[in-house]
This record gives sequence, C-alpha cells and structure tokens, in this order.
Amino acid sequence: MQTNKTFENIPELLNNTRDLPTPFLLIDQSKIKRNLEILKHVKDQTGCKILLAQKAFSCFNLYPLISQYLDGTTASGLYEAKLGHKHFGGETHVFAPAFKNEDLTELTKITNHIVFNSIAQLKKHYQTAKKAGMHIMLRVNPEHKTQSGDIYDPCAPKSRFGVRAADMTPEVMQMLDGLHFHTLCQQNVEPLIETFQAFEQKFGKFLNNPLKTPSHPPLVFNFGGGHHITREDYDVKKLITFINEVKNKYRCDIYLEPGEAVVLNSGYSVATVLDIVENQIQTAILDTSAMCHNPDILVTGHDYTPPVFGAENIELNSSKVNIRLSGNSCMTGDIIGDYNFKTRPKVGDRIVFGDTALYSTVSWNTFNGIPIPHIFTKTLDGKIQTIRVPNYFDFESRLGT
Ligand SMILES: Cc1ncc(COP(=O)(O)O)c(C=O)c1O
Repeated sequence: MQTNKTFENIPELLNNTRDLPTPFLLIDQSKIKRNLEILKHVKDQTGCKILLAQKAFSCFNLYPLISQYLDGTTASGLYEAKLGHKHFGGETHVFAPAFKNEDLTELTKITNHIVFNSIAQLKKHYQTAKKAGMHIMLRVNPEHKTQSGDIYDPCAPKSRFGVRAADMTPEVMQMLDGLHFHTLCQQNVEPLIETFQAFEQKFGKFLNNPLKTPSHPPLVFNFGGGHHITREDYDVKKLITFINEVKNKYRCDIYLEPGEAVVLNSGYSVATVLDIVENQIQTAILDTSAMCHNPDILVTGHDYTPPVFGAENIELNSSKVNIRLSGNSCMTGDIIGDYNFKTRPKVGDRIVFGDTALYSTVSWNTFNGIPIPHIFTKTLDGKIQTIRVPNYFDFESRLGT
C-alpha cells in the first residue's frame, strides 16, 4: 500500500547508493525509529506490551535498535524463537499450528509464552509447558470476518487457525493463562474493536474463571498482529482508548504482536534493468525476481504488487501499461507487475521498489540459483553499512554438504 511515506527522500537515496551492487534491500533505521516511537507511545499510554512478529522481519542486526522500544519477540516456531532469544532478549513468545515433542523440549528453555492452536495440542504439551513455568495460551477463532479476501484471513471459512467457541470448555479455560487471537491484516483500529466485541460475545462466558480472582495472576489477552499502527491514517488515539477500556473491564495484561507496523515504509529494494524484450508489450528483465525476492506477489495472484518510484501500479494487462517488470528466473509467471512510468526505463536503469523491508528477507529463496539480494542499512547518523553480501554458498549450502 503506497502512502506519502513510501518514497520519502528517494533522489537522495539513489544518489547515495549509486555504487552499491544490485539487487539490494536498504533498511533505513531512522524510519524504523519513527515507527518505534509511535509504538512506544501506545505502550506508555496503555501499559500494554508490544512484541516484534519476526515472521515479518528477522534482520537481527536491527534488533539492538528495536529492542530499545519493544518488549520482546514472537516466533512462528523453534528457529525464530532461537533467533529472538539470542539477538533480541526480552520476552520470547511462540505460536505454531502444531508443535513437535522435540521442539517443545528446546522451546521450554528459551520462551516465556507458548500459544497452542488446538485443544489436542494444549493437552498433549500441557505438562511439559507447565513444568517449565511457561505462560500457557490458546489461540481462539472469534469467527468474525473483517477482510474481503480469504488468503490472509484466519477467520475465513474452514480456517485451520484457533479454537472456536463451540469447542471451548470451562475445563480447558482453567488450564490457561490467557487467550490469543490473530485475525487482522494491514488494518485500522475499528476491525480490532469489532473483533474484540465478537470475541467477548463468544468467549465472554469463559472469562469468568478462577484466574480473574485477585489471588491469581491477571488474564493475558494477545490481540495478534495485522495492526497497521504506524500508517499515517491509523487512529492511534482510538487504539489507546480501546486498550485502556479493556484493561479497566478485565484484570488483564494485553499484548500486541505487529510485524509490518514495526518496519512499515522503512525499506527499499533496488534492481537494475538487464534487458527489455518486446512481444505485444515491453517487458523489462530485472536482476531480481518475484519468485525469489517477493513471492507475495505470486501468492496473491498480483493483488499485491510493490510500489515503484516514478511509476503508477496498474492492473496486469491493463491498456495503460508502458512497461512490465519481470524477474530473471525461468518461470513464465515471474512477473513483478505492470506499470505506467513517467519516463520509461532503459537497460541499465535502476528501479526502486518501496516498502520492501516487511515479509521480504524472511521469504527470499534461491530458485534457479538466483542470488539473494545484498542487505544494507542506513544508520541513524546517515552512514550506509553492509549487513549481508550474498554468495554462491547461500545456494550450495541448502542443497547438500
Ligand atoms: C499469529 C500472528 N501474529 C502476528 C502476525 C504479524 O502480523 P503483521 O505482520 O501483519 O502485523 C502474524 C502474521 O501473519 C501472525 O500470524
């Protein structure tokens, strides 16, 4: 989603990075800091805790900056939990659709909160988690749809995520320290409030349990991620009011675990045009790839295409296209998107994609042996530093020893 912040200072950036090899991702720390200040404001005004969802961003070289503002990390399984524990510190939470016994043994040593996705998983691992002193959480499904598509919606019909109210029991509730829901994606505060109302309506009867009495620790509510708190139009004031209202109503600790909001509009990817081929339309072949460097484009069937500096994103096959940007892999569908450029790019030009720090590095792959991009960061005092240089062994080491 392109906003006024997406391409701030791009001419300066292009000038400062002229000699850097493409493709690269540049992460601007001052922009992450700006996001973190907003998140810290929410924490300060509410007493809630905010975790970095590492599934969206795991460049651990930036963790020393992020950990000055946030309370810890949440992980999608053992490896992310290890990364958060090792490089971030603070609290380490973990949720996975299902846990293996051997992973749980290791997780008990490094995580504080574990979120189970089903009652069967809760019962299977309860004793191990309890003995280790972990906070035990259950993910629930409020069955309240706030998104139009299904692909990123855990409340979509037949969803595999979260226990529905019909399957919940007071006995299960007694095993828990709290409940978790994650239902949003790039959304404002209203869908969160609506979801909480649906959650209360469906699960409210289970919240009057012994945990609520003063001799027990407070209930824990985790509202997951998908809160676009750092976007210009996000109603931060309303979020603060809402969290404070929930805290006044329940004796509870509240967690949010955004990923995107932490690094929103803080990264740019730069690629070079290697060739332009013509067959009904002009297609630029870049030294990057949708398949390898931004698979969300293909997962969403081009519903999402990255914003490009100096160009308008247009629908695939629209008559307004003046150039199609494509990847350098063998896959016919390795198309980044159709664009209308003010000045049509030529071979050798650099193309700047906006808002690519989130969900990019974490899903890069080396299909076709295409190198992963370089990662650079612009520090708070404006210096460009190298975080990672790709090499042949990134490819080889995944395939054998
Ligand atoms: C359980 C859970 N928590 C947090 C997040 C982070 O969401 P976002 O990056 O959209 O804020 C996700 C994203 O899928 C998730 O599945």
